[in-house]
Amino acid sequence: MTARGTGKRILTIVVILAGLCALAMGAETPQPSAETDALPHPNAGPSQPGKIVIAHRGASGYLPEHTLAAYAMAYALGADYIEQDLVLTKDRHFICLHDIELEDTTNVEELFPDRKRDNGKYYAADFTLAEIRQLRAESRTPRRFEPRLDGFRVATFVEAMELIQALNASTGRNVGIYPELKQPAWHREQGLPMEAPFLELVMRYGYDRPDARIYVQCFEAASLQLLRTELGSQLPQILLIGGKDPAQALLQAEGLTQVAAYAQGIGPARGLLEQRPEIVALAHAAGLQVHPYTFARESVASRYPSFNAELRHFFFEYDIDGMFTDFPDAAYEALHAETP
Ligand code: G3P
Ligand code: CA
Repeated sequence: MTARGTGKRILTIVVILAGLCALAMGAETPQPSAETDALPHPNAGPSQPGKIVIAHRGASGYLPEHTLAAYAMAYALGADYIEQDLVLTKDRHFICLHDIELEDTTNVEELFPDRKRDNGKYYAADFTLAEIRQLRAESRTPRRFEPRLDGFRVATFVEAMELIQALNASTGRNVGIYPELKQPAWHREQGLPMEAPFLELVMRYGYDRPDARIYVQCFEAASLQLLRTELGSQLPQILLIGGKDPAQALLQAEGLTQVAAYAQGIGPARGLLEQRPEIVALAHAAGLQVHPYTFARESVASRYPSFNAELRHFFFEYDIDGMFTDFPDAAYEALHAETP
């Protein structure tokens, strides 16, 4: 990076961290825009060439995951895309939450002790957005950040998009969003289908072209197929494939060609690539990008001498196109350092 580029990045980090501190100190959480009042904010643009850093749940290595603070920090640390896991509330608002349950990342048990189902779980789908706004968002295990510091709230998807688009406007960068529909089949069973309202919402926010700065990800191929075929989405899509997922059967030439009919890439668990690095070449031959998950300082594979070595091996030896990481600064450094 040039000295000018370094200075600009540091200035960006300082400015954004000032806002981050305000959030962490419990400043008033911005009220969500009335969705019907929000103006479309065209954010489409040419895709950034080259490999990308995807901030997994924001800068979740440093701050409670999926909070606006974690997204702002990820932005400042150089992420190209920032991930939002999405679930629906009872009143059909998309919120940024990894689990369909609330108890591992909020204080829901303290505030609403009587609202668990018979299985003992507190489902976001049983709460209104107004109720969820009362919760404190907390760092999950491993506790990377003081778990009970107040001032963090569950973010809505609208707030996340508005934050990232506002930062794009103030910095001149073009950071993208990387939303994941969480358990759409389960949501459908609850009477909360996700795909159509999700597509309507992102299009209202300007993500409406094949080159928009968005990747739509899901573990359920049927959901991606529905978006592409029935709903006519042109947005880039990524099929996630877990380490014990039967969908691993798709990770050969014919299966990947099938995936390419409705997706632009795959998001395999990183262990799958360690076992079969040839998956990357097979995916590329099918026209698919490869964005493995999830890279973290605490879980470096023993064959690597350092986190940086692991990241560089995946970027440059395995030739992946991007990675999900809780530590976007580390991936940025691995990607942009001039010497190994
Ligand atoms: O979406 C990529 C990665 O985040 C998938 O794993 O469980 O963290 O959503 P998970
Ligand atoms: Ca995810």
